[in-house]
Amino acid sequence: MSNENIIFTIENGIGVIQFNRPQKLNAINSDVLVEMEAVLAVCERNENIRVLILKGNEKAFAAGADIKNMVHANINEAYLLTDLTMRVQERLADLPKPTIASVSGYALGAGCELSLCCDFRIASDNAVFGLPEITLGIIPGGGGTQRLPRLINSGAAARMLLLGDTINAKEALEIGLADKVVELPKLADEVSAFAAKLMQRPALALRAAKTAMRKGLNMSLKEGLQIEQDLFCMLFGTQDQKEGMAAFMEKRKPIFKGK
Ligand code: COA
Repeated sequence: MSNENIIFTIENGIGVIQFNRPQKLNAINSDVLVEMEAVLAVCERNENIRVLILKGNEKAFAAGADIKNMVHANINEAYLLTDLTMRVQERLADLPKPTIASVSGYALGAGCELSLCCDFRIASDNAVFGLPEITLGIIPGGGGTQRLPRLINSGAAARMLLLGDTINAKEALEIGLADKVVELPKLADEVSAFAAKLMQRPALALRAAKTAMRKGLNMSLKEGLQIEQDLFCMLFGTQDQKEGMAAFMEKRKPIFKGK
């Protein structure tokens, strides 16, 4: 696909979206979002894509929504912009396959929010996370006020949201914002190895686990348990369940086919 503001590749079952506005520290403007929306539609449909990775460059994952894009916006324009932002973020969060944010450098504002839509955040030691919108007289408009407190403790979330403080990689790991932190030169290999491990898992069970986990967070326990039970039982109609259990009984490694 021809994109200007993101680079999208598919290799060995892994889709990679790389933000590509290095001169603007990968600030997310409407063009980035429109291109992402089209690529996410491909990722949803293409069975050959088993895992999706989001990344930037060494200096910036993405330094936020493009401030130039909204500096003169009125209320209507802010709604239009956030409609698009929210739609893309939801689509990413709901992608029925695992997603990894490979974070080096700045992950601020919308960059941080996009990472929050991923299932995993693997960061390099130069990563800087933050939701500095409050320092611009606004609040996050891409899910940050909702997804961050659901992920980390409320005190740390409040510090990021109310003070606009940035968080370095070490602290991000401590508060559970990053799942893993490695030295910058090792980030790509670490993320590839992580993706390769995910690809060994049965695709339909992965999808079910992600759906149960994500949907359940927004439901009562009783409703969530019902989703879990339904998806658990549905998996008994898959070849991978037969294979996984047969392999255990026969003391061998399973060969999953995603069916
Ligand atoms: N929106 C628009 N442009 C941005 C941007 C953003 N969120 N973040 C960085 N840029 C642009 C800068 O304007 C600059 O462009 P220019 O060379 O045409 O002036 C370029 O990217 C490089 O940024 P610069 O500020 O010179 O780099 P730095 O290393 O000195 O500082 C940051 C890096 C991340 C601390 C600083 O760019 C920053 O604070 N960015 C805004 C972060 C933010 O508030 N994000 C939330 C937005 S809602």
